[in-house]
Amino acid sequence: MRIVRKILRKAAMIFRRAFYRILSDAHVSGKPINSSPLLAQGAGKISFAKNVHVGVENDADFWNSYAFFNPRNENAKIEIAENVWVGNRFVAIAEGPGIFIGKNTLIGNGVKIYDSDFHSTAPEVRLSAMPKRAAVKIAEDVWIGDNVMILKGSEIAEHSVVAAGAVVAGKFPAGVILGGVPAKIIGEVHG
Ligand SMILES: CC(C)(COP(=O)(O)OP(=O)(O)OC[C@H]1O[C@@H](n2cnc3c(N)ncnc32)[C@H](O)[C@@H]1OP(=O)(O)O)[C@@H](O)C(=O)NCCC(=O)NCCS
Repeated sequence: MRIVRKILRKAAMIFRRAFYRILSDAHVSGKPINSSPLLAQGAGKISFAKNVHVGVENDADFWNSYAFFNPRNENAKIEIAENVWVGNRFVAIAEGPGIFIGKNTLIGNGVKIYDSDFHSTAPEVRLSAMPKRAAVKIAEDVWIGDNVMILKGSEIAEHSVVAAGAVVAGKFPAGVILGGVPAKIIGEVHG
């Protein structure tokens, strides 16, 4: 029975990945090692350096989720450097300035990154005005905990840690622990 279960699991994974690949229409360069399905949708570009892992099989979200990389406009880009690990339910939506993730960075489950607000705060033009947009830059060797949200213009410098559930909106120095809503420096990383 164990071997049958193993074969079924493998077949289901292959089928799910292939299904989402068919739905994907973004320009993708590089080949991530994705155990979870990956939907790459949009008019822009996504680049994966070598040894990027997407999805974690040994997790409750694995079988009912996919990673969503969405460079919406033609000039939008999402760049993932080498050795980055991304958990399940990952969402990256870029409308132009871009999302850049540095090498060796670890990203937990349920993390969302946006380079745009998508709407204006002014009610009369909320759907019509150009939203605020700014690039998100995550440096190398950063660790981002589960269910973190990273908003437009955020910069997280090298070696930093973002505590689970934080909402990051701002620029922060290297080697710090960020936590809370909105995220503040709650500690320092010690080597
Ligand atoms: C950031 C983290 C690593 C810090 O762990 P730690 O160094 O052991 O820190 P502590 O638990 O001792 O907490 C230190 C302080 O930060 C606060 N803190 C810890 N986690 C926090 C969080 N998620 N949000 C806000 N504050 C937090 C604590 O309340 C404590 O505050 P105090 O000094 O005022 O008492 C850990 O809290 C965390 O968020 N881990 C993420 C785990 C995860 O998501 N893993 C899966 C993804 S790969």
